[in-house]
Amino acid sequence: MPLLIKNGRIITATDDYHADLYCAGPVITRIDAAIDPDSCAPGAKVIDAAGKYIFPGFIDPHVHIYLPFMGTYAKDTWETASRAALVGGTTSLIEMICPAKTDEPLAAFETWLSKAKGVSACDYSFHMGVTRYDDLAEQQLRDIVKRGIRSFKVFLAYKGALGVDDRELYHTLKLAKELGVIVTAHCENETLVAERQAELLAAGKTGPEWHEPSRPVRVEAEGVHHLLSFAELTGAEVYIVHTSCDEAVNEALRGISRGVRASIEVVLPHLILDKTSAEKPGFEGAKYIMSPPLRDRHQQDRMWSHLRSRAVATVATDHAPFDFETQKTMGRDAFTKIPNGIPSVEDRINLLYTHGVCTGRIDLHTFVDAASSRAARIFGLKGKGTIAVGADADLVIYDPAFRGKISARTHHMATDYSAFEGWEIKGRPSAVTVRGVIMARDGQFVGPPGHGRLIPRE
Ligand code: URP
Ligand code: ZN
Ligand code: ZN
Repeated sequence: MPLLIKNGRIITATDDYHADLYCAGPVITRIDAAIDPDSCAPGAKVIDAAGKYIFPGFIDPHVHIYLPFMGTYAKDTWETASRAALVGGTTSLIEMICPAKTDEPLAAFETWLSKAKGVSACDYSFHMGVTRYDDLAEQQLRDIVKRGIRSFKVFLAYKGALGVDDRELYHTLKLAKELGVIVTAHCENETLVAERQAELLAAGKTGPEWHEPSRPVRVEAEGVHHLLSFAELTGAEVYIVHTSCDEAVNEALRGISRGVRASIEVVLPHLILDKTSAEKPGFEGAKYIMSPPLRDRHQQDRMWSHLRSRAVATVATDHAPFDFETQKTMGRDAFTKIPNGIPSVEDRINLLYTHGVCTGRIDLHTFVDAASSRAARIFGLKGKGTIAVGADADLVIYDPAFRGKISARTHHMATDYSAFEGWEIKGRPSAVTVRGVIMARDGQFVGPPGHGRLIPRE
């Protein structure tokens, strides 16, 4: 149905102005100071956005939905995760395909695609996880790129599971360079992690509070240094996922200043949570186990500062949803068995707005750039990340006057807990559209199920 949005304040990564906006179909067709409803198609739906912002649909370039991991499966489906994303203002997701080392890449690609296709309510794409490198894998990776996937994912962590060795890393980067594909990477030195984990467990240090000491900042900075050395030698473009600390960002910036093509991501939990959450008594800390781990509180200021200066390009979530009662508890005897991840796809925008924009740590343009436009540009998401005539009508009409609290009782994610239980939010999407169709209103999913489609990549 055609849609006319009147009286809104349009905010993009670069612009800030009042205008009316008309979408005759899936793309934005007119932006004007005042659009007369009589000039629109008969039956056009009209939304009054007075007092509200209109942002481009937000993009989360780092989520896990179908994820076989650490002896279990992540809890969300594309149905639950996409609804949660939309209610929270995120209209496009990029999921990491994470095959086991024994899986063939093409079979994994088909499996991950089949989980989203016809099920996801929001638009989506994938980073193709490379967990092995041999002749067969290389041929299949070439085929997957031909099918429109323009990014790979490698893990320098998770020894013996998802992690690649240096030979695999080298050849993945060389192939990526040849094909013009960007490589996203989880950077932690897997050997240092494995050795430190073994030492801690042997010393009887088994609780969630020992997760951070098992992978301290230097372990992450070393991983970043390692990746950038390989990127420099191969000429590949890389994207460092979930940097959690000043040391890792500085290592990346040193590489960039040498000419390495690299972008830096931070994820929401590292901006607003610190390691004392993982130290909560009674095993509650397990709710906050993710990798890289939550850091010392002083790191938050450093990460906000890198975001403000735009050294950090994007804010994602690394949404990796595991239940507390039945899944996190798998690690009661050893923190190394707690499934890693914090569910957050629903909360990213409201918490980034509340703790970033409302506190003055970032301005509205940085907010839009980091949570939408930059990801669209880095990953070539055609039609996404901006508000302009011809762009996809993915829009978030945002109410800055809303006040509310986050709770697992009301969230749309499938997990039995929220890492942000009781936290206040100052602002919420009042309407969210994907290609001109209204998908969420005031905290409720209202869209047609399965509306999402695979995003064409440039
Ligand atoms: O703790 C995390 N990050 N879990 C998901 C897998 C990953 O490393 O991205
Ligand atoms: Zn990771
Ligand atoms: Zn991840």
